[in-house]
Amino acid sequence: MVRASGRPIFQDIRKLSFDYVPKRMPHREKQRKALETLFRPLLEARVSQNAFLVGHVGTGKTHLSTRFALDFEQEAARKNRTVRHVLVNCRQRMTDDAVLLAILKTWDDRYPDRGFSIPEKLSALRKHLERSHAHMIVVLDEADVLIRKSSDLIYALTRFDEEYEAPQGSVSVVLISQRDVLPFLDPATLSTFRRSNMVEFGKYSQEELVDILDDRVKTAFFPDVVPEDVVQLIADIAAEGGDARYAIEILQKAGELALDENLREVRPEQVREARAVTHALLSRESLEGLDRPKRMALLAIARKLEKKAYVTTGEAEEAYAVVCEEYGANKRRHTQFWKYLQDLDLLGFVVAKPSGEGVTGKTTIISLQDVPAKPLIESLEASLAR
Ligand SMILES: Nc1ncnc2c1ncn2[C@@H]1O[C@H](COP(=O)(O)OP(=O)(O)O)[C@@H](O)[C@H]1O
Ligand SMILES: [Mg+2]
Repeated sequence: MVRASGRPIFQDIRKLSFDYVPKRMPHREKQRKALETLFRPLLEARVSQNAFLVGHVGTGKTHLSTRFALDFEQEAARKNRTVRHVLVNCRQRMTDDAVLLAILKTWDDRYPDRGFSIPEKLSALRKHLERSHAHMIVVLDEADVLIRKSSDLIYALTRFDEEYEAPQGSVSVVLISQRDVLPFLDPATLSTFRRSNMVEFGKYSQEELVDILDDRVKTAFFPDVVPEDVVQLIADIAAEGGDARYAIEILQKAGELALDENLREVRPEQVREARAVTHALLSRESLEGLDRPKRMALLAIARKLEKKAYVTTGEAEEAYAVVCEEYGANKRRHTQFWKYLQDLDLLGFVVAKPSGEGVTGKTTIISLQDVPAKPLIESLEASLAR
C-alpha cells in the first residue's frame, strides 16, 4: 500500500490479517512438539488421537493447530497416507448439525444444507473416509460454545472406529478452548480425552511478543517504518493479556493511522491511538464470525444504544427492521430475532436481562457493556459493506 505522497508504509498488509497463518511461530515449539508426539501413533499404527488445547485468547491455539495439521498432512502424504483436517469454529457453527455439515462440505462442497439427519450425515462421512482411505483430524475451535449445548457429536466422533474390528484410525478430534471444558463433557466422552492429552498455551511475555511482532514488522512493513521502541511499546501493552492477536492488531492499526497522517514512520503516538480503538470484539475475526443476519441485528442494537444505556427487545426489533431494509435483506421473524439476541449475549457482544416490573411491563432489556457503540457501528457497517 502506498501513501498519497508515494512514500510506502506497508509492504504486504496481508501478513497482519487474522487469517494469515505464519510458517514460523516463535515460542510455540513446546506445544508443537507435544502435538507431534501425541499424533505420531496415528502414522505408525493407525490409532486415532484426541487432544485438547487450552489457553487464553491470542496465545496461538488456532494458528498453531492449523500449522500443525497442514504440516502433518504433508508428512502423512510422504508416507502414502491421506490425512485431511478441518477446523470448525463453534462460535460460527453452534450446533452438532451445523458442525457436521461443515465437516462434510470439506468432502463434498455441494452436500445439501438441509434434508439429512445427523446419523445420515455421520454415515456419509464414514463413506467418504472409507472410499479414500483417509484419516480426518477434526479441530473444533471455541469448542466450549458447542459443548455447552451438547457433546453428542464429539462423543460420536471419538467413537467413530467402534464399528470396526481392527483399528482404522478414521477420525481424531482436537478440542480448542479458552477454558478447561473437560469437566463439562459427559463421562463417556470424557473417558476418551485423557488429561495427558491436554496442551497448554500460556500467555506470552513482553519479550516473546517482541519476537512475534518483529517477524511481522519485517514481512508486512517496508524497512525502517516501524522503529524498535514502537515494537517495545506495543509488546508492553499486549503483555498484560499475553495476547499476540491484540499486539498484531495494534501494529496494523498504528500503521494505518501513520498512513492516514502521511507519516514516514509509525510513532508511539499512533500506537496509543491504535490502542484506544482496538477491542477484541471489534476485530474482523470476531465480527465476521457472525453471520450476516446477526451482524444486522447487532448493528440495529448498537445504533439504538449510541445515546442510551438500555433498549427493550421491541425497540431493538424495530431498529432491526430498518437495518434489514437498508441492506435489502429479508427481515427474519420475531422468534428468529430472539434467537439472534440469545446468541449475541452468549458470544459476549451484548447483555440481555429481564427488565423487572417497570413502566414498560416485564420485558427483556439489552445493553452494551464491553465495547463503545460508535466503533462497533463503524466496524459493522464496514463489514456489511464488504
Ligand atoms: N507464536 C506465534 N508466532 C507468530 N504469530 C503468532 C504466534 N502466536 C499467535 N500468533 C498470531 O497471533 C494471532 C492470534 O493467534 P490465534 O492462533 O488466533 O490465537 P488463539 O486461537 O489462541 O486466540 C494470529 O494472527 C497468530 O498468527
Ligand atoms: Mg482461536
